[in-house]
Amino acid sequence: MKLDAFSIHVPASTANLGPGFDSVGLALNRYLSVHVQQASEWKTVFYGEELQSLNGEEKNLIIQAAQFTAKHFHKDLPPCKLEVESGFPLSKGMGSSASAIVAGIELANTLLNLQLSKKEKALLASSIEKHPDNVIPAIYGGLTISFYNGKSVETVHVPDVAVEMIVAIPDDVLHTKDSRKSLPNLLPFNKAVEASAISNVLVAALIKNDWKKAADMMNRDLFHEPFRTKNIPFYCELKEKAVSLGAYGAAISGSGPAIVFFTPHQKAASITEQLSYMYPDYLFETVFPDRKGAVVNKSLSAAAL
Ligand code: HSE
Repeated sequence: MKLDAFSIHVPASTANLGPGFDSVGLALNRYLSVHVQQASEWKTVFYGEELQSLNGEEKNLIIQAAQFTAKHFHKDLPPCKLEVESGFPLSKGMGSSASAIVAGIELANTLLNLQLSKKEKALLASSIEKHPDNVIPAIYGGLTISFYNGKSVETVHVPDVAVEMIVAIPDDVLHTKDSRKSLPNLLPFNKAVEASAISNVLVAALIKNDWKKAADMMNRDLFHEPFRTKNIPFYCELKEKAVSLGAYGAAISGSGPAIVFFTPHQKAASITEQLSYMYPDYLFETVFPDRKGAVVNKSLSAAAL
């Protein structure tokens, strides 16, 4: 039986929020969209300048994640034509690979009618990405605090988060694999205890919507920011400037190089405008939390594609 065309929309995300390294993530209202039609063979068309480098690759991450999911359930996928657009850039720290993985899992789930729960999707996605902090908010929407140890996954989901954000995106790309090379292999026990206490306070503050305290904890991160700051041009200066303009604070978005600034209600747009004027080498965009997570829209007719 030939399936009707459908589309998958997966949000971008910002991971870590400082000391929530490899655990905390927040979905953003920028989306990866995949329009799917059954076809006689696999074909992917990437639209937009940002994704051009992916055209021609035989097996992109969306197809790989879909095939991984199908294989996990001992099934074969029917070939499809995928048309892919993205509202956010690749390899800048906004969870582009996580969104592609989640899109692939949603693709297999829909094509094979697997009826996976969010938790099952979270486990599959974490096992592909190896850390859960981008894939889980991309599945659930909102803020997620997660644990993944290679076998099981646990998440606390906070759907409503009252904050506005600005992402500052430099021209350069920074692949997560390279950015992780700056991190130490070990932390001394006393440093690890201090680092995890800072993270505990971050999470408690986030759940209470106390962004001032959360931003203070972001500044005190010991897990990754001290090692990565050198990779992010003007990071400390930009943070200081944004705070002087009314932002709560900032964190490296995922593994960078983008920066995410957190601001009170109705402040982000004016700070975005002022920072854009002062730092023309960065692209600044106001973003908001996404609350829905990945969505599959089956009401699209093939003719609409
Ligand atoms: N937690 C990850 C990191 C997010 O900071 O390396 C990027 O994939």
